[in-house]
Amino acid sequence: MDRKSDEPMNQKKTKTEKARERALLWRFLRGSKGWFLLSMVSAAVTALADMVSPQIVRAAVDNALGGKTANLPAFAMRLAERAGGWAYLGEHIWIMALAILAVAAVKVAAQYTFRVSNTRGAETLTKTMRDALFRHIERLPYAWHSQHRTGDIIQRCTSDIETLKSFVSEQMTSIFRIVVLLALSLTFMLGMNWKLTIIAMLPVPYIILRSVHFHGKIGKAFLDCDENEGKLSDIAQENLTGVRVARSFGQERRERERFEAQNEYYTGLWMKLARPLAQFWSLSDVLSGVQIMLIVVFGSVFCLRGEMTAGEYIAFLSYGAIMTWPVRMLGRMIAEMSKAGVSMDRIAYIMEAEEERETGRSLKPEMDQDIVFENVSFRYTAEGREVLKNVSFTVPAGTTLGILGGTGSGKSTLMLLLDKLYELPEGCGRITIGGVDLKDIETAHLRRNIGMVLQEPYLFSRTIRENIAITDETMSLDAVREAAKAACLDETVMDFAKGYDTFVGERGVTLSGGQKQRAAIARALTQHTPILIFDDSLSAVDTETDAKIRAELERRFGSATILLISHRITTLSKADQILVLDRGEIIERGDHATLSKAGGIYQKICDIQSSSVGEVGA
Ligand SMILES: Nc1ncnc2c1ncn2[C@@H]1O[C@H](COP(=O)(O)OP(=O)(O)O)[C@@H](O)[C@H]1O
Ligand SMILES: [Mg+2]
Repeated sequence: MDRKSDEPMNQKKTKTEKARERALLWRFLRGSKGWFLLSMVSAAVTALADMVSPQIVRAAVDNALGGKTANLPAFAMRLAERAGGWAYLGEHIWIMALAILAVAAVKVAAQYTFRVSNTRGAETLTKTMRDALFRHIERLPYAWHSQHRTGDIIQRCTSDIETLKSFVSEQMTSIFRIVVLLALSLTFMLGMNWKLTIIAMLPVPYIILRSVHFHGKIGKAFLDCDENEGKLSDIAQENLTGVRVARSFGQERRERERFEAQNEYYTGLWMKLARPLAQFWSLSDVLSGVQIMLIVVFGSVFCLRGEMTAGEYIAFLSYGAIMTWPVRMLGRMIAEMSKAGVSMDRIAYIMEAEEERETGRSLKPEMDQDIVFENVSFRYTAEGREVLKNVSFTVPAGTTLGILGGTGSGKSTLMLLLDKLYELPEGCGRITIGGVDLKDIETAHLRRNIGMVLQEPYLFSRTIRENIAITDETMSLDAVREAAKAACLDETVMDFAKGYDTFVGERGVTLSGGQKQRAAIARALTQHTPILIFDDSLSAVDTETDAKIRAELERRFGSATILLISHRITTLSKADQILVLDRGEIIERGDHATLSKAGGIYQKICDIQSSSVGEVGA
């Protein structure tokens, strides 16, 4: 559970990084911008309505009832004239009440529009982000996937997206609304009494500055929480996937303890946050109280001195009360924004990972040609050890190459390189098919023409038929069965009650290792590729079936170029050419007849295997 050092998490963002992230967010906002714009306009209208009703109350108290002519804006005076003049309004005060009701109706309509447009915007945004992430992740190189933890990636695609969504749909719109509200109330208050405005506004900058400071401090803690949540889901995910191993080795307790330890640590992180958060909120509460108190005290004094009317006093108190919420919210929104910054980093980290790209000339040569490895050397990481050392061999078209070698000798690496799942760096040799450098062959074309059965076959949670016909949903059952027959799987499947429609994996049948391997072989065979790779794909199949499958392969795919990795001599013996690989180097090569008498490792393994009863006669 070590921390990934390659993730640019804790560093301060540079300007270009920030600009890139902004551009990315802008890209995500495609399709939802309009909704957010509408929601902001409605938020502004709501804020305006909030500001207007205290003014109506003020006019009712001062102008209509108090008989004074306070400095109302010209349009308000004209409106009052048209309604019959202040005296008339004073006698019919219900008209003023109706005006308040009308403003409230406008506010309700604006709020309704806000909710609808905001939700639409938020959901559209989430969908766009999810799609973009998934599409991108699918195109990331295999090397990237093998370096990153699934739990962490999934967390970035779920909770980080949620955080970003609420950043745009809640924090951004709220901050906009708060700023509008503050600006409007400042304007209205200044229009009534500038001295009391300054006094009322005194605590506001302090509250805002404190929250900004607070958000700076708390950001790091949120980051920690997020990373540890990822680790927690990692443990959970790993255990769900490996449930059989955990059970059969009686590891439940240890795994539970591991989970509980991480869970406790994670919970503790949030707990630790509780105190500063509570302090922050309490202080904000106190400051808001102080603000109201200032208005009450100084407002009374100004009223008594005749510098202010009763209506203005009431309006001031309303503004003070209206502002309490937004000013405090501003702090919270800024605090939440720091979470969004973190999530943005984490999503940008994925989005900025380079997709698999065509670097060469994207040629589409015929693939039923000779495969040549020329002085291929390879290491997975710059600091890592050399996994392949100066490997050279040729597989003539239509022949079978057998590869024997201990675990970790680099057999799978050879195949991954041939499938361009890892890029061969400059100066590390050359792989060619029909004389064309692999770099210049279009990746999709290459992979379409290579049928690869991996060491650890993976079946999706679908039916057997869907698993075999993975490349083509419309494949006929006959074609599926044809491939399954070649892989010696047909009989087994026909024994299942639902045959090829049997569901595999979770909530379906669990296939044995050998059955899975055969399904994977059948899957590769459906494609009728000119190149076939079997990476230890017969290891879980008994010797007899192994022989049958090989015979079938020979019969049906005589023309294909086959690369066969196995630790079973019987599997390899019919190959036209056999390589023995040891720690990344080819130490023996030749056909079975030669190698089995050469006195090397091959002969030794040959002797061991032919004397063991299980392998005889296969
Ligand atoms: N993604 C990887 N990153 C770093 N090292 C790796 C990676 N995959 C394999 N290796 C290392 O490369 C060596 C060769 O691996 P591999 O080709 O899978 O061997 P084989 O298939 O012969 O068992 C092993 O030492 C293995 O630990
Ligand atoms: Mg391997």
